[in-house]
Amino acid sequence: MVEHLKNEQGGFALDVGSGSGYLTKLLYENFSYVVGTDINFDVLRRPTYKTDNLVCCNGSDALKIKFDLIVCNLPYLATEEILDIATDGGAEGFEVPKKIFDSVIENMANNAKFIFVTSSLSNYQKLIDYAQKLGLKTRIIAKKKLFFEELILVESTN
Ligand SMILES: C[S@@+](CC[C@H](N)C(=O)[O-])C[C@H]1O[C@@H](n2cnc3c(N)ncnc32)[C@H](O)[C@@H]1O
Repeated sequence: MVEHLKNEQGGFALDVGSGSGYLTKLLYENFSYVVGTDINFDVLRRPTYKTDNLVCCNGSDALKIKFDLIVCNLPYLATEEILDIATDGGAEGFEVPKKIFDSVIENMANNAKFIFVTSSLSNYQKLIDYAQKLGLKTRIIAKKKLFFEELILVESTN
């Protein structure tokens, strides 16, 4: 995601699940208005990388703004329960990402991009199919093998 974001620039950008704030901060370099959201209020109060415009909500539910670029390093792990909100995606790693997709689709400007990180540790094809069902043209733009999983960067456009 970090490597890819160097190629992106524009007006309004959103980082969903901002966590440490690293990606949010990076977006400030090439976008004029940046917002970060996270469902975990504690991480928003003490981000490692501080930025303005942090909002606590599910996905982008609290926002009315339309964004040119939305990024999300998803909580993608396939888990029976959601024990760690930072990483657990629920059944097939689909349950939590689906909620995020249902939310961000409402905040995409015309010709917007939604770029997300998923993994071989989830049913990522189900997620890609779901994005397509929502009307987004979706393709894998990068893959990176780690020793225990493969990270997958996906781009959806409307
Ligand atoms: C894998 S971490 C990514 C953190 C950070 N963006 C990064 O790349 O290091 C996923 C983040 O999504 C947040 N999160 C989980 N479910 C969420 C939801 N439904 N809406 C918004 N944020 C959520 C978690 O609290 C966590 O900070």
